[in-house]
Amino acid sequence: MPPDWPRGRTASGRPADQRLASPVEPAPDDTDAAVTVRPVMENRAPSGRPLSDPGVVDRLGADLRAAGYSADGVTALLGDSAHRALGRGELAPALRATRDRSRLATLTRLFLLGAAEDEPVVRRVLPRTGVADALAQGVLERDGGRLRAALDIRPYGADAEEFLLVSDLDSDTRPGPVRRDHVLGVGAASITLARAVIREPVDRALDIGTGCGVQSLHLASHAGSVVATDTNPRALALAAATARLNGQQWDLREGSMYEPVAGEAFDLIVCNPPFVIGAGEMRFSYRDSGLAGDGLCQALVEGIRPYLRPGGTGHLLANWIVREDTDWRERVGEWVARTGCDAWVVQREMADPAEYVGLWLTDAGEDGKSAGADAERAVTLAQNWLDYFAAERVKGIGMGTITLRRNDSGSPSVTLDELTGAGEDVTGAEAAGFLRRRAWTEQRTDAQLLASRLALCPAVILEQRSLLGHEGWTTVLRMIRRQGGPGATLQLDQWGQSLLAGCSGTVPLQVLVDLLATAHGLSPEALAAAVLPSIRVAVIRGLLEPA
Ligand SMILES: C[S@@+](CC[C@H](N)C(=O)[O-])C[C@H]1O[C@@H](n2cnc3c(N)ncnc32)[C@H](O)[C@@H]1O
Repeated sequence: MPPDWPRGRTASGRPADQRLASPVEPAPDDTDAAVTVRPVMENRAPSGRPLSDPGVVDRLGADLRAAGYSADGVTALLGDSAHRALGRGELAPALRATRDRSRLATLTRLFLLGAAEDEPVVRRVLPRTGVADALAQGVLERDGGRLRAALDIRPYGADAEEFLLVSDLDSDTRPGPVRRDHVLGVGAASITLARAVIREPVDRALDIGTGCGVQSLHLASHAGSVVATDTNPRALALAAATARLNGQQWDLREGSMYEPVAGEAFDLIVCNPPFVIGAGEMRFSYRDSGLAGDGLCQALVEGIRPYLRPGGTGHLLANWIVREDTDWRERVGEWVARTGCDAWVVQREMADPAEYVGLWLTDAGEDGKSAGADAERAVTLAQNWLDYFAAERVKGIGMGTITLRRNDSGSPSVTLDELTGAGEDVTGAEAAGFLRRRAWTEQRTDAQLLASRLALCPAVILEQRSLLGHEGWTTVLRMIRRQGGPGATLQLDQWGQSLLAGCSGTVPLQVLVDLLATAHGLSPEALAAAVLPSIRVAVIRGLLEPA
């Protein structure tokens, strides 16, 4: 997400392959007459901290697990077709597949499909938790004579592990604006960040703006300890429930940005902040920072250094303002330059203001399209937001990932890439490889590079474009590409193509340069000077690797 341009129906919504359900109003021809899925205009869950009783959390976890409420279990129950339909936001096939009211089916209907169920049926599937405690702890709520979920509790499969995640029900499930302290579930942005994090063993990790705790769940698999912070007490309550449901222990702290960890330092910091850019209003805590423009993202980036241990890494999702007549690299480049850290910044998308505003109004259920929604207010909100962008001369909003590594050498390296292609996502493995390879090339003089043995990465392919002329086909473009590598492309001339063809890791690069120069009557020094810049890029991008 993110972040990448969010790919779900809503901006923070789950990508299709992650969401087990996308509850919406039932289709008119819903085959299941007994089900009640109707718009709820406001979230009526108790305003206090839900699931604050650890005993109830434990009993709830036991009930869910006893029924086989896992990603695999639910997928098998629904079948491929209904599961895929849920990914498209179509509810009816999943409701049909869960009509038997088995324990797993009923839990799925409650917590994934947003259905209201009869109390005796719910009582049967939550024998340890009990309906009274589930109501008191904000897990369930009454809906007429029936019961429905007041929280989103869903299986989450990641890194070959199974987790249970607690968050608030999103605006798909509860049409109408979400609550001000809404706690976001796993969305496209969450997944984008989780994938971008380098998963190497570390001692201390920090998750800023933990929300439902999804990033901390991942961190716990490779960090000795996890500190998770948030400004929203409700988020901290749900994160505590998520941690406990999964047998994990995090140090949860309330506060803004780096305030709760003043004077401490970490090997790894991850942050999926409320990055949405606006005039500085604070309407939803998961989305709005309360600072005007991209001030929060700027402050998070610029402030990170003291909180990183030497060599420590930070991964942030961010949005940034791109003003008319400017390049996005100027603004974000200044942020990272002030950290003195090594940086790899990737802009994955730039949205135009209207697209951006529409997306986020829909995300919070404020687009005026839901049943009973205030269409006039939606127009006012959109106009005010667009007026702000116009006054700030915003031509677009950039979205991307920022990877920072504390470098105490005094000469940090910064790369800013615009990578908008499908399949060019920044993954932890790619980020680790990029930082390592860039450091490797920077530590080598030209003479040392010529003395090294380099091998073309096996996944590299050569693409050529040719034009037909008087003498047949003439190659006008040569490009090598490592499939799936973000920014892993390099345009070559004929010399570069010949040289790389010889890079099998068996002889030093200098030998290949000499052979090529001799064959074409060129000066080896001049040829080396001409090709070495491309060789450096090829190594940094993982096209060539030291043998
Ligand atoms: C977009 S959500 C991210 C949730 C989760 N980490 C994820 O990856 O899905 C942003 C979270 O940051 C919290 N937050 C908002 N302002 C903050 C601030 N100034 N400092 C720390 N956290 C903040 C919000 O309450 C919310 O839980």
